[in-house]
Amino acid sequence: MTKLGMQINGKMVVTETEPRTHLADFLREQQFLTGTHIGCEHGVCGACTLLIDGVPARSCITYAVACDGAQITTIEGLRDDPVIADLREAFSANHALQCGYCTPAMLISCRDILTRLPDADEPRIRLELSGNLCRCTGYVGIVAAVKEVQKKRKAAGARPILFRDRLGPVGAHAPAAGQGERTVRKSPPAGKAPAPPPKEIVGAEQWRAVETDGVELLQSFRVPYPRAQVWKFFGDLEQVARCMPGARLTKPALDGRAEGEVNVKLGPIVSAFAGVVEVVRDADRFSGTVRGAGRDAKSGSNARAVIVYRLQDLQEASTQVDISVKFLLTGALAQFGRAGLVKDVADHLTQVFAANLEASLSGKQISESAGATLNAASVARAALWKRIRAFFARWI
Ligand code: FES
Ligand code: FES
Repeated sequence: MTKLGMQINGKMVVTETEPRTHLADFLREQQFLTGTHIGCEHGVCGACTLLIDGVPARSCITYAVACDGAQITTIEGLRDDPVIADLREAFSANHALQCGYCTPAMLISCRDILTRLPDADEPRIRLELSGNLCRCTGYVGIVAAVKEVQKKRKAAGARPILFRDRLGPVGAHAPAAGQGERTVRKSPPAGKAPAPPPKEIVGAEQWRAVETDGVELLQSFRVPYPRAQVWKFFGDLEQVARCMPGARLTKPALDGRAEGEVNVKLGPIVSAFAGVVEVVRDADRFSGTVRGAGRDAKSGSNARAVIVYRLQDLQEASTQVDISVKFLLTGALAQFGRAGLVKDVADHLTQVFAANLEASLSGKQISESAGATLNAASVARAALWKRIRAFFARWI
């Protein structure tokens, strides 16, 4: 169980939940707020839409623990909201609901359109509502209701509420007491360099959270070089970073510590985790522990990883490299921390890293240059195709 604290409908809640619990399940089953409905559980139908830090978000694909320190508003928390009150009336008048299953989320999305885009025309309203599916009423009544409230608000001189000054839903607010690190999330102004990485690597409590809640992956590979040579290579952080797709050091490494950046593309999202790594090596055991913490300033997501590697001497002057990675992703990008996707990306990274390590040790050119962005989505797609091909190959 993981401790977490968040404001739900204006009330501070400090409690515990399983790290795998989605926000929708957490709210419905632990907080008894059943106004948030669940449809597809895949982020497609929009039935679970609520507000995280004032921004509509899918609660079925957001882990509750990733919302530590956030403000959650469900439909229950909007009971006295004037825009929702107008929408309720307009929905009834325009027959904009039938079974009502999609309605709580639909109201939240309509409110978002009305407050953010007061001049939206019908095509824009339909476009904005395209993330909320209604299976029985159709959309004519819903669009008519939005237009009716829009007209009313214009006549009353209502001004747009521009709360979207940051990207991503989670974690812009101060943490609950003792509940992990939290950063104020602001996108850097256009044309300005992203915020510098934290000077200090995160504290003991955050590393404990990686141990208890992190996803663990084990990888192994062999290289045809003696252990002493591979050990020496692992001692040079700059060389190691050069072999890792998406990674680059932003400052020279000093005393086992370096500042760097990892660039990952996830579908349309390009994130740059700027951070710090620290390495402690045990020469007697030919093993090392790497702790890395980084933050993507655009989405406000944090990543922490503890990597332990061990080199085993094999016959014929070759070495087996065993790597264990424990990592924790929090913030808007946490939804991409699903074990399947991460495992595929980790398999790919290990293969590329092993090939680059071998090339480096033999003095050859490495295949993926330093600083190149890692396209995690295409890696995961390629892995999926490989599995599908293997499945059919077995049958044929
Ligand atoms: S239940 Fe979340 S999008 Fe469908
Ligand atoms: S009113 Fe039934 S799904 Fe929308």
